[in-house]
Amino acid sequence: MKKIITILSSIILFSTSCNSPKESKEAEKVTNPKYVAEAHSYAQPNNAVVKHLSLDINVDFEKEVISGTASYSIENNNAAEIILDSKFLDIQKAEADGKETKFTLGVFDKHLGQSLKIDITPDTKNITVHYNTTSKTEALQWLNPQQTADKKHPFLFTQGQAILTRTWIPIQDSPQIRVTYDATVKVPSELMAVMSAENPKEKTTDGVYHFKMKQPISPYLIALAIGDVEYKAISNRTGVYAEKSMLTKVHNEFSDMEKMVASAEKLYGKYAWDQFDIIVLPPSFPFGGMENPRLTFATPTVIAGDKSLTSLVAHELAHSWSGNLVTNATWEDFWLNEGFTVYFEMRIMEALYSKERAEMLALIGQQDLEDELEGFKDTPNDTKLKLDLEGRNPDDGMNSIAYDKGYLFLRTLEQTVGREKFDVFLKNYFQTHAFSTMHTEKFISYLNENLLAKNKITFNTDEWIYNPGIPTNHVVILSDKFANVEKVLQLCIDNSTVDTNATKGWTPQEWVHFIRNFPKEMELKHFEMLDNAYNLTNSTNSYISMVWFEQSILHNYRGNNVDEKIEAFLINVGRRWYVSTIFNAYKKSDKLKEALAIYKKSRANYHSVTANTIDKILGYKNN
Ligand code: BES
Ligand code: ZN
Repeated sequence: MKKIITILSSIILFSTSCNSPKESKEAEKVTNPKYVAEAHSYAQPNNAVVKHLSLDINVDFEKEVISGTASYSIENNNAAEIILDSKFLDIQKAEADGKETKFTLGVFDKHLGQSLKIDITPDTKNITVHYNTTSKTEALQWLNPQQTADKKHPFLFTQGQAILTRTWIPIQDSPQIRVTYDATVKVPSELMAVMSAENPKEKTTDGVYHFKMKQPISPYLIALAIGDVEYKAISNRTGVYAEKSMLTKVHNEFSDMEKMVASAEKLYGKYAWDQFDIIVLPPSFPFGGMENPRLTFATPTVIAGDKSLTSLVAHELAHSWSGNLVTNATWEDFWLNEGFTVYFEMRIMEALYSKERAEMLALIGQQDLEDELEGFKDTPNDTKLKLDLEGRNPDDGMNSIAYDKGYLFLRTLEQTVGREKFDVFLKNYFQTHAFSTMHTEKFISYLNENLLAKNKITFNTDEWIYNPGIPTNHVVILSDKFANVEKVLQLCIDNSTVDTNATKGWTPQEWVHFIRNFPKEMELKHFEMLDNAYNLTNSTNSYISMVWFEQSILHNYRGNNVDEKIEAFLINVGRRWYVSTIFNAYKKSDKLKEALAIYKKSRANYHSVTANTIDKILGYKNN
């Protein structure tokens, strides 16, 4: 009898410790608060949290105002108020379950904006906020027709990451929170509206569009673009949106999209968002790309005509796993989004094209990292993977450390444990944490449990994550192609001649490496020689232009009207990485006056995130 009881109880024990993931998640919810404290949101999601957003808005291009209502279903833990984030919004009215209720706006903080406290009762299930955006909104960029490719119609796009969604929608603007959403958006009938949701493929006659995002996403991923765009499919689940004059070029450039999704799925599991489209925005878009779910937003500067800059697509696609599926819990864990994404991006590039191509990209990243470390000499804490951003704008922490050091960390881990084990680990990581958030400490314990301890491997994870700089055990990335580029450059300089045979068939990445490696004291005659041989001032590849312009400024090269070209580039392009590299070059070479003269003309064309960064670089005070 005793024996039977022991067997029975061990069966019971066994079955409780092996309960389904769903049950264990439920248990977790009851025992620990689900949401960790964070520095960049006023929300108190453990008390009351939004679950679904219903947006009903009108977009007025004349007044440059979005107005309407944001309604939420909420999970209410007996709360007397629910706190949303808002910044530069004109809040008109709040309702709880259909009845007007009191709302209070808190003290304004220059980074966070204001808390929006809405009175509710413990049984409130829905709230509604009536609001308008204002001219101070930071997420929205309203473009006049001149700023578009076709120059006929205005354009509008939003940029939510990191904490800008609160400037166009009152919301609990924390990456820890996930909402499903639907939206009704009314726009002028000559324009099409698209969102990070199920999208139209054609314009409607009345300018009213309905959207649905059925998978829960973090608020920074809610996105809207409105313009005179058309759709062209690449496969039954991938395609592009662009203005008419760009559509064919964009379609050709991104024709490998379906293959990329298939490669990515083969590596780390099924694509979770059904559709993967890209919209190419006007050139003022402040990023290379933004991984808005189902619809990546992209800069036209990657449309090079030869698919040479499409690693951007691999990058934004990779975010469909690292970022959109498993999301950094706070902006101090940003490296979990970007470091994993760069690693994944390189794996896609390797699988789809070649190891050689991926290694060139990785090596460029490593050089970026070295430059970046140099720039952080006086603020070494900003070179940690896990950041402390209390009291700071999260954007300040979003430099290439998260990308390139994060990549190097994961690459070093891969090399230590072997690719096979690492891939199994990553696939499980994405699967286990799908549609949830991850913070650094949770990742470390998951890593220890599921990869390191399991394989009896010791690894200096803490040093990589919590210390400044790069641990000495980092992998060394090598590229024969780049070694050759360095040799060609050296010969060029030593012999003061160009060997056009040696550079035949070079990819833009080889050119970028060539230009970036000019010696500090390179003579002007060598600039002239190279420019005359390769017409670098007039390159049609934006990446080559950017590094060539940077070097021209640093070395005072002024041949072939390069100054005019730089000015035109800075007025046209608002991609922050490009623009800040060039303005930094002016600053480093004591040409602040020249830079400011250009900036006075270009600033109005920039989105707020780019303008903010350049303001800081140049010490520019608006007004
Ligand atoms: N999510 C980022 C863009 C971003 C970063 C927006 C920080 C707001 C704050 C996006 O995935 C990205 O990394 N873009 C890069 C692309 C590149 C690394 C291929 C960019 O914009 O240059
Ligand atoms: Zn990214």
